Amino acid sequence: MFPIPDILLDYKVALSTFLLLSSNHSSTSSVRDIVCSQIAHVTTPGTKVYYPGHNLYAEGISHWANGSGTQESKCVVEPVSADDIGSILKVIGATRTPFAVKGSGHHTGPGFSSTKGVQISMRQFTEVKYNKESQTVDIGPGLLFDDVYEALEPHGVNVVGARAMGVGVPGFVIGGGYSWLSNQHGLSMDTVLSYELVKPTGEVVEVTQESEPDLFFAIKGGGNNFGIVTRFTMRAFPQGQVWGGVIKIDGSQIPLVGKAVTNFSNNIDDPKAGMDTLYTYAGGKLVVVQLVFYDGPVPPAGIFEDMLAIPSIEKDVSTRNFWAFLQAGGPFPTESRFPTLLDRSLFHTFSLLTFSPTLSEVIKNETEFWGSHLSTKSGEVAIYAIEPFHPEIYSHNTTATAFPSDRSVPFYPYVIWFSWTDESQDEYFYAAAKESANRILEVAEAEGQHGVADLPLYSNPALFDTPLERIYGTHVPRLREIKAKVDPENVMGLAGGFKF
Ligand SMILES: Cc1cc2nc3c(=O)[nH]c(=O)nc-3n(C[C@H](O)[C@H](O)[C@H](O)COP(=O)(O)OP(=O)(O)OC[C@H]3O[C@@H](n4cnc5c(N)ncnc54)[C@H](O)[C@@H]3O)c2cc1C
Ligand SMILES: *[C@@H]1O[C@H](CO)[C@@H](O)[C@H](O)[C@H]1NC(C)=O
Ligand SMILES: *[C@@H]1O[C@H](CO)[C@@H](O)[C@H](O)[C@H]1NC(C)=O
Ligand SMILES: *[C@@H]1O[C@H](CO)[C@@H](O)[C@H](O)[C@H]1NC(C)=O
Ligand SMILES: *[C@@H]1O[C@H](CO)[C@@H](O)[C@H](O)[C@H]1NC(C)=O
Repeated sequence: MFPIPDILLDYKVALSTFLLLSSNHSSTSSVRDIVCSQIAHVTTPGTKVYYPGHNLYAEGISHWANGSGTQESKCVVEPVSADDIGSILKVIGATRTPFAVKGSGHHTGPGFSSTKGVQISMRQFTEVKYNKESQTVDIGPGLLFDDVYEALEPHGVNVVGARAMGVGVPGFVIGGGYSWLSNQHGLSMDTVLSYELVKPTGEVVEVTQESEPDLFFAIKGGGNNFGIVTRFTMRAFPQGQVWGGVIKIDGSQIPLVGKAVTNFSNNIDDPKAGMDTLYTYAGGKLVVVQLVFYDGPVPPAGIFEDMLAIPSIEKDVSTRNFWAFLQAGGPFPTESRFPTLLDRSLFHTFSLLTFSPTLSEVIKNETEFWGSHLSTKSGEVAIYAIEPFHPEIYSHNTTATAFPSDRSVPFYPYVIWFSWTDESQDEYFYAAAKESANRILEVAEAEGQHGVADLPLYSNPALFDTPLERIYGTHVPRLREIKAKVDPENVMGLAGGFKF
């Protein structure tokens, strides 16, 4: 479908010849994949290539949902520099080899950051450099936000990053990034001033609004279609003590929780306040995992009282530094209690304009219905996340961005999370998630939230087969044009993900 130009074919032949000539330098190389060997030969010694059996191979292919998310790759490549990634992409493009780029592997879309071909792991890109003068932070895509928060803590600054522990920087930021600080500063991508990018052709460029306005627009929300990001330069914001933590509440209290979240979501006028409410069905029980946040040592009166007054099973809410607050939430509020949780998982999303006691009841019923029903299909957990944001969350952009195509509509992404163990049930769970989202949308529509079925869907939790138009709306044609220009050989099409 995409003809390989002669020059690349020559390159491929030259490489293969080179490899055949040099292939007896190691006794095991005959069983090694030829493309992986080529990559080892064209890169500098700092770039590592690992094969099955090596512990860093296992780490390189591993994913958060490590049953549904992990595939056996031919090899794991851990590049050490942007230039080496350029060389790698040339080999991959010339040989038309399927590949994947992985940050921490948190996306649940099958094949989004995993592959049977060449697994590129960004693990060696671990820079965090705070520049006081410019109030910016250079961040390597091999990091988790945990690392970034911890490194910035002593400087009294922070970046707009993930709301839970363990989330990788690159996928989060290029997809958009909803943070505890988003009500104040926008989505994570809105705070990126510059990207170092390896284009699919192998060229390394600095992408800013001035240097590459089209690419700058496209990378903000557009995923892995335009090349591989090797550095994010993000704005730094002063960060003092915060208030908040996690409250676990029995499912029987959901009517009260629903009222409190509705009240909160209808009246958010202080952008420093945040809530994340997880209706969680696991082990035959319905529990609310309620996160509360205020960016300051003491929340003003009139925001959290209703929620705090609800009888709880456990409550860990206090004033502390941001990193300690995040740790209170844990890797994910439920993970430690359900050890097999991360086997096969899906995230799916639907967007709403607001929340209501009726929606609370419907979502409670969906959580219980699917949670209990799916347990007969090897299901382990069903979680519905209600995440109200400030209505002006989309007003903080300083440039246009790929996502969302319309920033005048204050929609909130809700997340459905199912986890199960039996691979033969995958299709069943995907269908269940869609059916459940549709049911909730119907109720919202009937309640007066008109047009919710057409609101943009956030790519990071969106199910893998979500149509591009549902994510990027009217921006799809422009994104296709930019993609065709930067990647004429469709090299990034050899990697999974939402593709233009
Ligand atoms: C427990 C949990 C909590 C979460 N919390 C939040 C939250 O608070 N807010 C929020 O907005 N989202 C959240 N998410 C969703 C999260 O944003 C996505 O899972 C995101 O993809 C994670 O980034 P990653 O680098 O780990 O992803 P990966 O799975 O490694 O990659 C995701 C995509 O990005 C591409 N990619 C990776 N690195 C690069 C690179 N250097 N250059 C170009 N493309 C690259 C991959 O190819 C893939 O397509 C959460 C997810 C989980 C599982
Ligand atoms: C997933 O992780 C668990 C725990 O670390 C491990 O035992 C299991 O083998 C992993 N599964 C895959 C497919 O990697
Ligand atoms: C909304 O919350 C505030 C603060 O907790 C409280 O004072 C107010 O009475 C609540 N309103 C309703 C309708 O519950
Ligand atoms: C609960 O949800 C299921 C699945 O959507 C639905 O079939 C059922 O009618 C719902 N029950 C109530 C009481 O709404
Ligand atoms: C923010 O995004 C909107 C919608 O894409 C765009 O119209 C607007 O110009 C952007 N704001 C700035 C300051 O560029």
